[in-house]
Amino acid sequence: MLAKLNDPKRLEYLNPDVIWEKAGLSSPQVLIDIGAGTGFFALLFSKKMGKGKIYACDISEEMLAWMNNNLPLESKRIVIPVKMEENSVPLSDGTADLVYMINLHHELEEPLRVLKESHRLIRKGGKLMIIDWKKEETPEGPPLGLRVTELTIESQMSKSFFSNISKYAVLPYHHFLLGEKCA
Ligand SMILES: C[S@@+](CC[C@H](N)C(=O)[O-])C[C@H]1O[C@@H](n2cnc3c(N)ncnc32)[C@H](O)[C@@H]1O
Repeated sequence: MLAKLNDPKRLEYLNPDVIWEKAGLSSPQVLIDIGAGTGFFALLFSKKMGKGKIYACDISEEMLAWMNNNLPLESKRIVIPVKMEENSVPLSDGTADLVYMINLHHELEEPLRVLKESHRLIRKGGKLMIIDWKKEETPEGPPLGLRVTELTIESQMSKSFFSNISKYAVLPYHHFLLGEKCA
């Protein structure tokens, strides 16, 4: 699992430059990565931020230990590993310019609870970005039966009070949804 998450081949179909550009952030100070795994994307995004904080949250002690032991020293100023529980992140309300989840949504037991928790964490005007496997055959990824449609994710985002939801067809194997916290 660790080797799979750290495999640079993933960058061929999850291009961080494309993701960063579509996220459309201007001078972000705080990002929260839910289901950060090994911090693969938190590390890449930390290079784009230069300053600020990315809270790399995960429920797995194994992932937290890996990040604490292996993230490069220079990234530790920005990337902060955080142990979270299944549906709750130990950070204050209105903290984040962006909460994002990459390859997590299909694993969630209670997606609405995680999306509502994300809403709590985001500042007014901030964004939620969800990137997850398309519900179709792809050369890699989880079994089709576990995957979730774009429509389902969009509807769950609406039910969790997100507005202005955009869907970007920019990744070959993944849905890409971006919503805003307006109130
Ligand atoms: C497929 S990995 C993706 C890791 C990372 N986002 C990436 O793409 O490199 C999913 C991660 O989500 C974590 N996870 C699963 N359920 C979670 C939950 N409810 N809250 C937070 N993390 C969760 C797992 O421990 C695992 O590290």
